[in-house]
Amino acid sequence: MGRLSGKCAVIFGGGQTPGVDIGNGRAIALRFAEEGAAVFVTARHLKRAEETISMIREKNPEAVAFAYEVDATDESAVQKALSVAAEKMGKIDILVQNIGIMMQSDKSLLTVDNATIDAMIATNEKTTLYAVRNTVPYMMEHGGSVVLVSSIAGAMVGSNANMYNVTKAGMTHMGELFAGMLAKDGIRVNTIILGMVQTNMAVCFNQEKNHQSREEVIANRDQAVPLRGGQGTAWDTANAALFLASDEAKFVTGASLPVDGGTTVKRG
Ligand SMILES: NC(=O)c1ccc[n+]([C@@H]2O[C@H](COP(=O)([O-])OP(=O)(O)OC[C@H]3O[C@@H](n4cnc5c(N)ncnc54)[C@H](O)[C@@H]3O)[C@@H](O)[C@H]2O)c1
Repeated sequence: MGRLSGKCAVIFGGGQTPGVDIGNGRAIALRFAEEGAAVFVTARHLKRAEETISMIREKNPEAVAFAYEVDATDESAVQKALSVAAEKMGKIDILVQNIGIMMQSDKSLLTVDNATIDAMIATNEKTTLYAVRNTVPYMMEHGGSVVLVSSIAGAMVGSNANMYNVTKAGMTHMGELFAGMLAKDGIRVNTIILGMVQTNMAVCFNQEKNHQSREEVIANRDQAVPLRGGQGTAWDTANAALFLASDEAKFVTGASLPVDGGTTVKRG
């Protein structure tokens, strides 16, 4: 028996930015499937979700796993995705909202242009609102678990604050607000506050931003992490998501769990 046996999970952002390192959403989908969940993996591009399903099937050809393309900034598309998920799996017990982007044009709140503001709010905040509120009706009868993937950037106050900081703060706060609203319905909502994790999205973004090689970016990020001087991997994210999604966390809701190698503690 796996830790998620009998559970049906929808994962938004379960593809990934292409490259050598595994992304958070993909690792979550693989880990959940490994622990016996049926998974409905959505991504912005079908191919990326299908790659995740192939990796699941490589390990277990019998796995119940579906790929689906959705632009989650469109609420009607999110509603459609959830209704297909419920139809294919029979129910929805778990929702993971892992969608998130960074943009090179998102440099400072003092200068950021309106197109970037709109794109950041649409992708990092509206997708969370749409995913959670449209999943709730599927969980009303039997309860459920929602896991959001946010960032330490949402709690940072620094000289170069940007829309990523703003939107991730919004995402984290939304997690607490939904937890408060939904506790009486047996729906738990918890948020992973992620620190530096070596994914392609993070490494490629910083290569471009800082005009550095992959090796330089990785070395800089590694040395910024207090715990053993090394970034986390998407498997660290996946293991935290697994705990929060599972019945092991049945008394846990409204938590904002740092998975950051001590970065928040260092900052104080
Ligand atoms: N890697 C890190 O260091 C780090 C740190 C803190 C937080 N995070 C957060 O972790 C999450 C995953 O990041 P990652 O590094 O694994 O990157 P990733 O690019 O591999 O994953 C992002 C996912 O979001 C999906 N997505 C983007 N726009 C979408 C849209 N409009 N509709 C549907 N799906 C969309 C992509 O398809 C992809 O599957 C993000 O929310 C990110 O902010 C990452």
